[in-house]
Amino acid sequence: MRLTSRLSISLIASVAVVSLAFAYAQMRASRRGLDRELGRHALVLAETLSKSAQPLLKNHSYRDLERLVDQFENREQIAGVVVLNMAGEPVAVSSRLAPRLDNYPEPVRQALQDGLTHAGFVSLGGDPLHVIAMPLRDEPLVIGVLAIFHDAAYIQQQSAALWRRALIGVAIQTFLIALITLLTIRIGIARPLKRTTEWLRELRTGTEPHASEMPQKGEFAPLTREASQLASSLREARAAAEREAHLRESAESNWTAERLRVFVRGRLGGDHLVAVSNREPYEHVHRDNTIQCRVPASGLVTALEPVLCACEGTWIAQATGDADRETVNEAGRVRVPPENNQYTLRRVWLTQEEEQGFYFGFANEGLWPLCHIAHTRPIFRSSDWEAYHTVNQHFAAAVLEEIAREESPVVLAQDYHFALLPRMVKQRRPDARVAIFWHIPWPNPEAFGICPWQRELLDGLLGADLIGFHIQAHCNNFLDTVDRSLECRIDREHFFITRDGHRTLVQPFPISVAVDHVETPIHNTELPHLERAGLLAKLGVRATYMGVGVDRIDYTKGIPERFRAIERFLENCPAYRNEFTFVQIGSPSRTHITRYQDLMQEVTEEAERINRRFQTGNWKPIVLLTRQHSHQEILPYYRTADVCVVTSLHDGMNLVAKEFVAARHDDQGVLVLSRFAGASHELADALVVNPYDVEELSQALHRALEMSPEERGIRMQRMRAVVKERNIYRWAGSLIGELCAIRTAAPRKPTLVRSVVNWP
Ligand code: G6P
Repeated sequence: MRLTSRLSISLIASVAVVSLAFAYAQMRASRRGLDRELGRHALVLAETLSKSAQPLLKNHSYRDLERLVDQFENREQIAGVVVLNMAGEPVAVSSRLAPRLDNYPEPVRQALQDGLTHAGFVSLGGDPLHVIAMPLRDEPLVIGVLAIFHDAAYIQQQSAALWRRALIGVAIQTFLIALITLLTIRIGIARPLKRTTEWLRELRTGTEPHASEMPQKGEFAPLTREASQLASSLREARAAAEREAHLRESAESNWTAERLRVFVRGRLGGDHLVAVSNREPYEHVHRDNTIQCRVPASGLVTALEPVLCACEGTWIAQATGDADRETVNEAGRVRVPPENNQYTLRRVWLTQEEEQGFYFGFANEGLWPLCHIAHTRPIFRSSDWEAYHTVNQHFAAAVLEEIAREESPVVLAQDYHFALLPRMVKQRRPDARVAIFWHIPWPNPEAFGICPWQRELLDGLLGADLIGFHIQAHCNNFLDTVDRSLECRIDREHFFITRDGHRTLVQPFPISVAVDHVETPIHNTELPHLERAGLLAKLGVRATYMGVGVDRIDYTKGIPERFRAIERFLENCPAYRNEFTFVQIGSPSRTHITRYQDLMQEVTEEAERINRRFQTGNWKPIVLLTRQHSHQEILPYYRTADVCVVTSLHDGMNLVAKEFVAARHDDQGVLVLSRFAGASHELADALVVNPYDVEELSQALHRALEMSPEERGIRMQRMRAVVKERNIYRWAGSLIGELCAIRTAAPRKPTLVRSVVNWP
């Protein structure tokens, strides 16, 4: 039986019993009242009558006595009157009573015995009567007894009527109370309970119920609170189980952000992760009287952001936004991403001189051209080197501060800006696990050997426990460079370098992009054409075919070479004039450096020259867009271009090639890719070219545009499989996994390190 029915029945029974008991008590009280009233009435009457009867009995005037009693008999409710002498013989009895009086009731007998007044209810011939027996006196003697009998049937009748009414009242009352109670239970308890049950059932079966469906007020509020908490714990547990199941399922296949999150958390086991890069992931700038937050154009930022989000660590980077100072706390920290804080960004401020010498000078006029074989001479200035050293110290001090309270922290230094930092950190914290990932190529020993501070750079790098490059060739070049310039032991089988007892592992980790796992199927093959026409129309151009290039304006990217190949293509294939337009998205970069200013001019002039040569009506061969575009702005070009052209003269990896592939959900589009970009080692289904060879490049463009949809589909599918499998999560997972597997010095008791550190 349901709880509510049981509750209702017991409530009805209780109400009925209580009401009955109450009615009975009322009936008894009223009966007692009637009894008492009758008793009082009888006593008054007996006293009055005795006053008349006494002298008549004393004088033996029995005839007068008879008359007296008969006279009283006609009074209301009097059943009869009798006068007895002391022998108990009736001397006068009213006529209606005489036949019923075969023996005397108890009160009469007692009055005869003790000479006192007695009264009580008796039954004569089955009729209920009240009798009062009062002695008649001839003082001091008792000479007889006067007994007056009252009819008491009316008391029973009145009591019965009262009892009937009470029973009807009880029935109505019970019915109403039961009805009200049932309604209250139904509305106030049964319904909320039902809602709660349904809510919990939905939760159990996996549909996401809405918390507002639960009763929110009154007695149910604590239950709702508890149930909501239970629900969120259940949700978390279910999500964790799903994640685990997903991880198990995909253990041998694709890495995802979720898998990385679980993996990194497992490997770190609570240890703190600190990433260091020059470029910050979020820059605050003043725009239109407000502070805006923007993401700088950087492959490094794209790559590292998911890692930090996954493990909630700290990212140390240079403050470059003009509103950066206004958005951090006194320790230079701000929680990011802005809408969904997941990790801490710790900003480091450099003086203008420091930035000039470190970033524009040593890093980008020295190391950048040194490592990229693009035939731009590196410039080495002692002042730049000093700034580089000083800034590495600043960042190392920031790292040491961030890890001061952490046992066995993990430090991921990024790129050629921080070659000295690994040793600076390890000298102070040998227990820290330190890796540096070199995002640009490592040249051969001869090329690197022209750097006046090559030994210091190598020594700084070898402070790390792990050094990562994009491809094996860069690892080999690094080992060769170290071999030629430093005292150390090199294990070429396992890629270890041991210097002064410290071992560094050197390994390739090909960086990549995040691939959208939710594929948007493109059924309508007309759509890309329409979207492309729309894009070109916005640029003021009409063309049937579109090529795209996306680069920082950098001399390593081979942009002038690309333009010259387009020129040659249009010379060789005049049918494509008026038909093919190449959109070059070029974001200005390192514009303080003369070489970059010159390049910007060269690129612009080349585009203008070629356009002047072929341009007709509203068609031109090259559209050059020299402003920074967001990833969202670039995506439509990736999605609709017939060909994407990457012509790096030398490149560590080149993420544009992978971004293009990741964007092609339609398995179409052709990638023309320089063989000097690290990406060409993985994307063998691109049309791989030597960007210095203008003829070859122009032919590749022609081949791309003429390629059958089937061949394009097969090539793109294969490239997408590679990019999907070797995605950014895999890069981060293997880098951190490898680093965490390295055994370092025993963890030391962390102490607070002040920001002033004396370096050797
Ligand atoms: C390219 C390189 C990265 C480098 C970045 C620096 O993306 O591949 O290794 O960190 O440029 O660019 P920036 O604009 O910060 O000088």
